Amino acid sequence: MKTIVTKIDEQNIDDKALEALKEAGEIIKNGGLVAFPTETVYGLGGDGLNPESSKKIYAAKGRPSDNPLIVHVADMESIKKIVKELPDAAYKLADALWPGPLTMIMEKSDEVPYETTGGLDTVAIRMPSNKIAAELIRQSGGYIAAPSANLSGRPSPTEAKYCIEDLDGRVDMIIDGGQVGIGLESTIIDLTSDVPMILRPGYVTQKMLEDILGDVSIDKTILRADSGVKPKAPGMKYRHYAPKGDLTIVEGDPLKVTEYINLKLAEHKENGEKTGVIATKQTVLKYNADVVKCAGSREDEEEIARNLFSILRQFDDEDVSCMYSEAFADTGLGQAIMNRLLKAAGHKVVKV
Ligand code: TXA
Ligand code: MG
Repeated sequence: MKTIVTKIDEQNIDDKALEALKEAGEIIKNGGLVAFPTETVYGLGGDGLNPESSKKIYAAKGRPSDNPLIVHVADMESIKKIVKELPDAAYKLADALWPGPLTMIMEKSDEVPYETTGGLDTVAIRMPSNKIAAELIRQSGGYIAAPSANLSGRPSPTEAKYCIEDLDGRVDMIIDGGQVGIGLESTIIDLTSDVPMILRPGYVTQKMLEDILGDVSIDKTILRADSGVKPKAPGMKYRHYAPKGDLTIVEGDPLKVTEYINLKLAEHKENGEKTGVIATKQTVLKYNADVVKCAGSREDEEEIARNLFSILRQFDDEDVSCMYSEAFADTGLGQAIMNRLLKAAGHKVVKV
């Protein structure tokens, strides 16, 4: 399959861009696949109400078909067709946080095929704020099923070049809308449980959700690997974002962390291994690794979130075989950063 790559500037959706989005919309309506930017990460879109499209998405990603897709919509009205009922909590959250990086899980209606929900009776729904995404949804018939636009197991793409790396020849079109703003996937909240539960942490934090809904719980398995307990979002159980090399997170007093990592780096170098470190602005000059990547300032978690996935991919490009990362706070946006980092490291953490 020849993949068309089209550039669109989110800040200037002119007639030419609209024409391209219309063409992309036709592709999706006809059962094809289009990768597109959202504010979180790039998505791999197909018609969410067409079972054949969802099957194609799984095949293009190499993704297990029990891992449900998120259906992206452009307005509240559209949701009514795909859910049994719209709970009060959904209206409250939508008022405050949509369009934006939040996904809500509700009981699905018969309109949503099981191929899209991985066999579940619930459906995950998100209304993205990215203008290219919103227009594409409108041009595609209103319901785009889209997982992140990476090959299964790789970090989610934060730039079109990473979609091209993973999906060239596997999808009909890739829309290049530049670098995404957030860099981590949306927060997922399950509204079907008695107390709403966060299944995946993201840019929308537990505190923001509690301020709107009152009590909100969090699926405990997403922060630490409690062996034997299955996460509630099927996708969270898969090893993800895993770089080809071996990644270890080091947690503790900052000075000791740097010391420990440098000690380990020296050992690995002696064995002839290529080493890497995920550092922060505060520590980047202190490491003796072959490849040292600065994720951003410790005072700016948004910057760290935006850079993380790209750094993991760069380590692969440079064939780094063993990596260390400093740990981040387990609160606020740090919760999402640590969740992704822990998955990338296969939950390998050293406390010093
Ligand atoms: O920011 C995002 O959410 C991006 C952009 C493209 O919107 N999408 C994304 O999709 O991250 P994906 O497929 O990579 O992750 C979706 C997650 C998976 O962990 C999946 O198991 C979970 O959502 N999920 C989807 N539907 C669900 C459901 N009905 N119940 C529980 N978990 C669900
Ligand atoms: Mg994904």
